Amino acid sequence: MSRYHEVYEGWQKDPERFWGEAARGIDWYKPWDKVFAKVDGLDRWFVGAECNTCHNCIDRHIDDGRGDQAALIYDSPVTNQVKTFTYNELRDEVAAFAAVLQDCGVAKGDRVICYMPMIPEAAIAMLACARIGAIHSVVFGGFAPKELATRVNDATPKVIVSASCGIEPGRVVAYKPLLDEAIEISEHKPDRCIVLQRPMEEAAMTDGRDLDWAEQVATAKSEGRAAECVPVAATDPLYILYTSGTTGIPKGVVRDNGGHMVALKWTMKNIYDINPGEAYWAASDVGWVVGHSYIVYAPLLHGCTTVLFEGKPIGTPDAGTFWRVIADHKVVSLFTAPTAFRAIRKEDPKGEFIGKYDLSHFRTLFLAGERADPDTLQWAEDMLKVPVIDHWWQTETGWSIAANPLGLGQLPVVHGSPTVAMPGYDIHVLDDEGGPVADGEIGAICVKLPLPPSCLPTLWKNDARFKESYLEAFPGYYETADAGYKDENGYVYIMARTDDIINVAGHRLSTGGMEEVLASHPDVAECAVIGIADQLKGQIPAGFIVLNSGVDRSSGDIEREVVQLVRAKIGPVAAFKIALTVPRLPKTRSGKILRGTMRKIADGEDWNMPATIDDPAILDEITEALTSAGIGS
Ligand code: COA
Ligand code: AMP
Repeated sequence: MSRYHEVYEGWQKDPERFWGEAARGIDWYKPWDKVFAKVDGLDRWFVGAECNTCHNCIDRHIDDGRGDQAALIYDSPVTNQVKTFTYNELRDEVAAFAAVLQDCGVAKGDRVICYMPMIPEAAIAMLACARIGAIHSVVFGGFAPKELATRVNDATPKVIVSASCGIEPGRVVAYKPLLDEAIEISEHKPDRCIVLQRPMEEAAMTDGRDLDWAEQVATAKSEGRAAECVPVAATDPLYILYTSGTTGIPKGVVRDNGGHMVALKWTMKNIYDINPGEAYWAASDVGWVVGHSYIVYAPLLHGCTTVLFEGKPIGTPDAGTFWRVIADHKVVSLFTAPTAFRAIRKEDPKGEFIGKYDLSHFRTLFLAGERADPDTLQWAEDMLKVPVIDHWWQTETGWSIAANPLGLGQLPVVHGSPTVAMPGYDIHVLDDEGGPVADGEIGAICVKLPLPPSCLPTLWKNDARFKESYLEAFPGYYETADAGYKDENGYVYIMARTDDIINVAGHRLSTGGMEEVLASHPDVAECAVIGIADQLKGQIPAGFIVLNSGVDRSSGDIEREVVQLVRAKIGPVAAFKIALTVPRLPKTRSGKILRGTMRKIADGEDWNMPATIDDPAILDEITEALTSAGIGS
């Protein structure tokens, strides 16, 4: 019998008591005055308390006798390296790097951007910021300089931490030139850049600005300089993580220190059923929220061993890599995106690699980041013979809104549903007017306010955009921007986004942002980008362009140019490879582009002629363009 219902009801009856009890799992320098309070119109948790996230992730475990236990295992098939850091070693690295940051003038409340590949120094930099109360903002390495520059301008960092290069299968990605270009085009300039030189491609350093990571850390260590943990308010920001919004300008999701620790620590036992001392692996990237929460913070808060993997599910070197990592490091639980499993399944449909490794200690597979298609779920269950748990969450929340809480006792798995609302989340499905819809009917999925600890209190320096983006459409509720339904057992089903966000290989991207790039091409008069179904990545973007009248260049050339433009302005992560020239875009009589109908045509789904369409013939032109590109039907 699962204790879920009892625990959920306990939270419903007295949320403050529930979270106050959960907060006992954390060390505080000063207790809170109030578990929950409104401060300056924003919902805040553990108001008045003081704490330090790095202390709770590292030092407290050393005090508890875990100093010699592995804290972080860096496993990098792309560089043939495996390196383990014990809690003692991790503390030494973090404290030394935190001292280097202090040398650069970084103090409590200052921002530090980390533009790093999947190397241990990325986690070390994040924890070093946490140690001294600085606010980190990690930018995913697959973003282009312009995206980085946007974040530099918004976060105004004192220091940017980076590495000379990242490694993608078959190519070395030089990060430093991208960083230099971003700083060149940004209005805000950091005082310093600290660059980790990797032997695969060393970077040219800029005099007076750039510092060498290894040299700085070695000097700090030889001089015996190690930064102590600085107490911060529970409500002070730990980090800013930018995520795609409905325009090209990303949203700076703010995460606080206290509530974040309390919620994440709670999830490790209650949702993931992990015990301190066990090895836990989130195969994601530190640039995404999953990487923040479940590569770095939650496993360390819980005294686990976390795995930081620099590689891909396939091709590094083969579709057995995941099983090799699980076997080598005695991983009990893996968390990744369904797309990784689709990739593995395509290469190894019979799961032959699985049999080559000892996975007897492996207990659970968790999936999130995109809809887990039942086919992939079934395959993973058949092959691994462990529970496969889908759970649903967002950058904004930092942990799952709906899950199957294994630590409370597993609930029946229903393929297609990430199961039920977690304590803290009162999920409602609403119609356009904000009224409730019946069970089984699709609507906007909303969460009754207040949101639980760890969820964003606001957007960085933009309370107005926070309120407008999330709170205004449905007063009294947080709008998740996901559409779906609940069944009579309270199971939720996440079906689609209600905005222009698409999900490409578990990466959240704005089609609006891509349209802005397409529209910037001098020959493009109008454009639309939609997400179309893709067997591997779930969705991929497809762009439709209408050329300016009088353009006599080849449309093929222009299509190639816009593809290149998206890669240059947003980055390879956008996976924007389809651009189609069409004579016109289908619109309603009021001028709204019929993106939904275009998507249905591209995906070969049934569609009805929209009653408000301006000229039905345009949809034939769209169908023709898609058919000639081999897409649709
Ligand atoms: N730095 C530079 N470039 C990067 C990058 C990084 N950190 N990460 C990705 N890219 C590039 C890739 O090289 C690729 O470039 P290409 O167009 O030249 O091939 C592009 O961005 C798209 O990357 P990706 O989405 O990773 O696609 P892929 O085809 O290389 O791999 C998967 C597909 C399914 C194997 C991959 O997406 C994956 O491992 N997903 C796992 C799940 C995951 O990490 N989800 C994140 C949220 S949980
Ligand atoms: P991100 O903020 O990048 O984590 O993306 C969040 C979005 O990914 C959500 O709003 C959903 O649209 C989608 N998503 C995440 N997890 C799931 C899931 N388990 N099922 C369906 N969609 C999901």
